[in-house]
Amino acid sequence: MNPSGGSGMRDRDVTIRRILKVNHAGEFGAIRIYGAQILMARRLFPDIVPALEEMREDEISHCRLFREAMPARSARPCRVMAFWSLGGFVLGMLTALGGRDMIWICAEAVESTVHRHLEDQLSLP
Ligand SMILES: [Fe+2]
Repeated sequence: MNPSGGSGMRDRDVTIRRILKVNHAGEFGAIRIYGAQILMARRLFPDIVPALEEMREDEISHCRLFREAMPARSARPCRVMAFWSLGGFVLGMLTALGGRDMIWICAEAVESTVHRHLEDQLSLP
């Protein structure tokens, strides 16, 4: 007998933990992308720095919310947060080197991917 109330409940808990983990990591990666772009944009495209900072602040807030939701659900951050950190930073640097259009293309790709991902999660049984 499963003490957690049946395998269905257990599967749901596992799914929620995975969602929290991947969402938290994704938000962290986005923070790093925008952070690197801000570093570069301060020198190359200072006019877009305020918009990037606002986007980064949003991601910091999202990341914090996912992190705060973890303990009550026995979820933990991804084990390879360093990968998300480095990957996000490198992606942010490279896209900023590609020019301001590349920054916005990257932002659009990140945001549309996140939204599609969240919609997929919301439609899980
Ligand atoms: Fe976000």
